[in-house]
Amino acid sequence: MKIGIPKEIKDQEGRVAMTPAGVQALLAQGHTVVVESDAGLGAGFTNQQYQMAGAKLVPVAQAWDVDLVVKVKEPLPAEYPYLDTQMVFTFFHLAGVTPSLTEALLAKGTTAIAYETLEDGHGRLPILAPMSAIAGNMATLMGAYYLARFNQGKGLQLGKVLGKPHGKVVVVGDGVVGQHAAQVACGMGAQVWVAGIDAGFMASIKAKVLPEANFFLSSPENLSQHIADADLVVGAVLCRGALAPKIITEAMIQSMTTGSVVVDVSIDQGGCIATSKPTSHSHPVFIEHGVVHYCVTNMPGAYPRTATVALEDATLPYTVAIAALGKAGLMSDQRFAKAVNVMDGKITCKAVAEALGMMDVWAG
Ligand SMILES: NC(=O)c1ccc[n+]([C@@H]2O[C@H](COP(=O)([O-])OP(=O)(O)OC[C@H]3O[C@@H](n4cnc5c(N)ncnc54)[C@H](O)[C@@H]3O)[C@@H](O)[C@H]2O)c1
Repeated sequence: MKIGIPKEIKDQEGRVAMTPAGVQALLAQGHTVVVESDAGLGAGFTNQQYQMAGAKLVPVAQAWDVDLVVKVKEPLPAEYPYLDTQMVFTFFHLAGVTPSLTEALLAKGTTAIAYETLEDGHGRLPILAPMSAIAGNMATLMGAYYLARFNQGKGLQLGKVLGKPHGKVVVVGDGVVGQHAAQVACGMGAQVWVAGIDAGFMASIKAKVLPEANFFLSSPENLSQHIADADLVVGAVLCRGALAPKIITEAMIQSMTTGSVVVDVSIDQGGCIATSKPTSHSHPVFIEHGVVHYCVTNMPGAYPRTATVALEDATLPYTVAIAALGKAGLMSDQRFAKAVNVMDGKITCKAVAEALGMMDVWAG
C-alpha cells in the first residue's frame, strides 16, 4: 500500500503524523511511504532523516495521492481539493468543526478514520489519550500564565507561597484531560475541585491519582456554586463523537470575578462553555464578561516534539493494521468499526450524524 504523510498546516502546528522510525516500520511491512518535504521540521525531524529511513520526499499533492493518508489534525479547507477516495487516518472532530469538512468527505467518497473515536479492547481511547494528557498538563500552565496581570488576568499566582495556598481551580470532567490538569494544579499547591458524573469513578481516582483534590458531582447547582469563586476553570468534558454539552453556562461565566481564566480544552468538540469560541496559538485568548477565555483547538501542537512521539507510539500499531487490512477489511475489524466516521458517501458514526443534523446520510 502507498502511504502519504502531508505537512500539517493548522496555525502554529508543528506535529507530524510519522517519524523516520515509523517510516521504517511500514517499509518493513512492504509498504511505500511518501512524505511531504519539510513535514517533520516542526518536530525536529529533517528531510534527510526521512530519506535515510527510506521515504520519498514529495510535494503536497503527491502526499495526498495515495491509498492511506496519515495526518495529525483535521483537513482544513485548503486541503479539501486533495480529498479523494483514499483512506485518511487523523483527528477529525467532525461534530465540533464546520459541516463543510463532512460534506467534502461525503462528496469525495473519502474514508475518514478518526483517532478520537478509535477504542481499544477496554473501551478506552488510546490515540486521544496521549494528546489529552499533554493538553491537560498545558491547560493549568496556560491558566496560570493568563492569570498574570500583564495578560489581563486578575494578578493571582496559583499555588503555595511559603506554605500558604493561593487560587481555586475547578476542573470540569475527570477523564484524561481533567486528571492531568488537576494533577498539575495540585502540584502547584492550588485548591483543586474536580467535577465528574460517576461517584464511584471519582472515588477511585481520588484514591489512586489525586488524593489532594476535592470532588463533586457535576450538577448545574454544584457547578454554579463552585465556578462563582474559581480563579481558573478547565473544561474537560467529552461525550464520544458528539458535540460537547454546554454545561458551563453564560450565567456561570458572568458570576466569576473579573480577570478569572477559563481554558476550554473540549473546544475541539465544540466546547463545554457557553461563551467559548475556537482560538489559535497565534491569538489564543479573548475576554468575555471580564473572564479571559483560552480555547485553542490544537493545544499539543505547542509541544510538537513530545506530542509527535507520543502520538506515533499510539497510532503506529493501528496504521500498520489499516495498511494490512485495506479499506475492504476495515468495518469487519472491531478495532476500526467505531473509528470509521465516513465511508462511501455515508456517515458511519451516529453521534456525528446527529450533531450535524445529517441523519439522512447516516449509514445505520
Ligand atoms: N483542545 C485541544 O487541543 C485538545 C487536546 C486533547 C484533547 N482535547 C479534548 O478534550 C476533551 C476531553 O478529552 P479526554 O481525553 O479527557 O476525554 P475522557 O473521555 O478521558 O474524559 C471525559 C470526561 O468527561 C466526563 N463527563 C462527561 N459528561 C460530563 C458532565 N456533564 N460533567 C462532568 N464531566 C462529564 C466523563 O465522565 C469523562 O471522565 C475531548 O473533547 C478531547 O477531544 C482537546
